[in-house]
Amino acid sequence: MIALANDHTALQMKEWVIEVLIELGLEFQDFGVNTTESCDYPIQGELAARAVADGRCEFGIVICGTGIGIGLAANKVKGIRCAMIADPYSAMMARRHNNANMMSIGARVLGEGPAKLIVRAFLNNTFDSGRHSRRVDQIMDIENKA
Ligand code: RB5
Repeated sequence: MIALANDHTALQMKEWVIEVLIELGLEFQDFGVNTTESCDYPIQGELAARAVADGRCEFGIVICGTGIGIGLAANKVKGIRCAMIADPYSAMMARRHNNANMMSIGARVLGEGPAKLIVRAFLNNTFDSGRHSRRVDQIMDIENKA
């Protein structure tokens, strides 16, 4: 199950993401929004991130104008590693080296083709583990040093 969430800038982009999820045979849960009325991206970012953090969803894809604000919001939830992505190579490496469990993309940054490549690259790759496990553990330990 993939958690999806976005702000008002990203309705078209979410449709493109959904097309890829359907193509990959992946189910998704849409945490909104589904209107172009201006809204505040931290609310949607947190909803999707909590679904990933508590295990209701395996991965999350969140979208705002740049991918930055909603990604920052998602990363405030304990257990979340949300990578802000603008190219397919980084999408692949976010999974392979960083074990990212969420990805944020920018609706005002990417067109349909690059966005779809990015979503496929993120979802079709797995964590390499090995030496990367230690580093990801070190990232997560930072959450426990209040
Ligand atoms: C909305 O105008 C815009 O600020 C938002 O979509 C996002 O880009 C924030 O990071």
